[in-house]
Amino acid sequence: MKIELINVSKIYKNDVKAVSDVNVTIESGEFFVLLGPSGCGKSTLLRMIAGLEDITEGILKMDGMVANNLDPSERNLSMVFQNYALYPHLTVEENILFGLYKKKNMSKTEKIKKCKDVAEMMGLEQYLKRKPRELSGGQRQRVALARAVVSEDPVCLMDEPLSNLDAKLRTNMRKEIKQLQKRLGITMIYVTHDQVEAMTMGDKIMVLRNGRVQQIGKPLEIYNSPSNTFVASFIGAPPMNLIPGCIENGEIILDGGHRLGSLRFQQKRSIQEIIVGIRPEHLNITDVNNRCSINFNFSVKYKEILGTETIITVELGRQEMFIRCNGQVDIPIGKEVGISVETDKICIFDKETGMLINQLSDYLNDVKMISS
Ligand SMILES: Nc1ncnc2c1ncn2[C@@H]1O[C@H](COP(=O)(O)OP(=O)(O)OP(=O)(O)O)[C@@H](O)[C@H]1O
Ligand SMILES: [Mg+2]
Repeated sequence: MKIELINVSKIYKNDVKAVSDVNVTIESGEFFVLLGPSGCGKSTLLRMIAGLEDITEGILKMDGMVANNLDPSERNLSMVFQNYALYPHLTVEENILFGLYKKKNMSKTEKIKKCKDVAEMMGLEQYLKRKPRELSGGQRQRVALARAVVSEDPVCLMDEPLSNLDAKLRTNMRKEIKQLQKRLGITMIYVTHDQVEAMTMGDKIMVLRNGRVQQIGKPLEIYNSPSNTFVASFIGAPPMNLIPGCIENGEIILDGGHRLGSLRFQQKRSIQEIIVGIRPEHLNITDVNNRCSINFNFSVKYKEILGTETIITVELGRQEMFIRCNGQVDIPIGKEVGISVETDKICIFDKETGMLINQLSDYLNDVKMISS
């Protein structure tokens, strides 16, 4: 089922504007992630789609039909809540059967057969007679999922369904949910504040901040070309390095005086004050005397050797900068190192608005390269 939101806003009774003017189309069969920090309006938006919350302004369409005033039970969707919301006094089987309460025409035997099938698919056959309290967190989560998918509704809404699980279980459940969604071909709207979940599960991501859409796009589009500094720092861990600087005579100069070396570009716009965004993996540690085009010297302030990679922190003025190195890089704290920048990957943001001006790689075609 295709879902469209047209200029949708939500103002709560206490005048809190939780969602502002959201426009988006969620295609049928898409895994769509709503991503943003706590309080940005994710649950509000999801609850408006579910019909659990009135839409203050704007239009919700489901398969082209206006659905603003449809009763939740008429919307053909299932929902999984953050706290699972299982009935504690019912068994696993009864909880799953609850997902079929709308199916008035289905016989009891048919319902039980469906429940068995889904339980098998979710690896829950041996727990059908247990109560939720006799299950682990991951098993309870699977019951909540089973109850949602048993209905075979074309849309499934999930609100932070994995937040109560430990790291390993989350990784497994991420895969399970994604596979289940593809197998059933349903439209998924999935709320999370976890950027890893968003990146790994989403066909598309919508980033929200203070109820406003910041960017809608495929995970890698958002990662590579964040529309503003908020998105840039929200996606990626450690986040993109955001370093204030300016453009002077077509040359980028970071605050503190570091020049982005031989790289110059013709100034086509009047923007002077900028923020330079560099992902940690686009910085490389070099010898102090390395003669590559853009090379700064810093001393190592902190290091995290994680096994497959090492995160080195250096100080640039009062600001920290993260560098992601492959493998185990054991550099003593305080040691002077050189850092080279993959300049074609950097992002330039307008300092005043925080908006992406352009990626430098887009400039390179009509850029005048002058070696210093
Ligand atoms: N029933 C309500 N009445 C008034 N204000 C509310 C209500 N529910 C939520 N809000 C406010 O609306 C804003 C958005 O809340 P919402 O629950 O949608 O955020 P969220 O993105 O889901 O956050 P979290 O990640 O913490 O769950 C918040 O400022 C919140 O305080
Ligand atoms: Mg929420």
